[in-house]
Amino acid sequence: MLPLAAAAAAVLAAGVAAGANESMMRGVPDPKQARIDYMLKCQGCHRPDGGGDDRSNPPMKHVVAQFLGVPGGREFLGRVPGVSTVDLDNVRLANLVNWTLYTFDAAHMPSDFRPYTPEEIGQLRRHPLRLERADMRARLVAGFAQERTETQTP
Ligand code: HEC
Repeated sequence: MLPLAAAAAAVLAAGVAAGANESMMRGVPDPKQARIDYMLKCQGCHRPDGGGDDRSNPPMKHVVAQFLGVPGGREFLGRVPGVSTVDLDNVRLANLVNWTLYTFDAAHMPSDFRPYTPEEIGQLRRHPLRLERADMRARLVAGFAQERTETQTP
């Protein structure tokens, strides 16, 4: 039988880190802290499995890393209010954002991914997005949806 602590860890891992191998994640010096920060600061909206909901909170699962592949997407991820205004310091926030990308959308991680550094996160969050973010998001999503269609065309 599993010791209690291991069983609890397994449940925790199944909840958020579906299959992600945390030792392979770049820019995530403290995955355990990231899991805790995600639970405390993000999952109320984005849900424990990153699935979001059908109303106002977008899914990150199978989606979020695609922003890295379109111009302006990298900056967008650091400036959305859920990220930029959270009460975590830059070191914990960079750790968490990198972890979020790998955990919920490993399949779309670019092979040459440059992890967010605390310095970059610090720069981006100085300019939190406001109402313009809905249009910006729609444009970025259209950008990667378009790319997908193009690569599928023979
Ligand atoms: C109050 C609800 C809420 C909380 C809390 C929240 N988010 Fe979000 N998040 C949203 C919404 C809504 C969007 C869509 C863009 C927008 O309108 O801000 C979003 C967008 C994002 C995006 C961009 C991807 C996309 O599909 O738009 C990322 C990355 C993200 N959130 C990560 C996080 C992280 C990490 C945390 C915790 C530190 C967090 N969010 C906390 C609601 C939330």
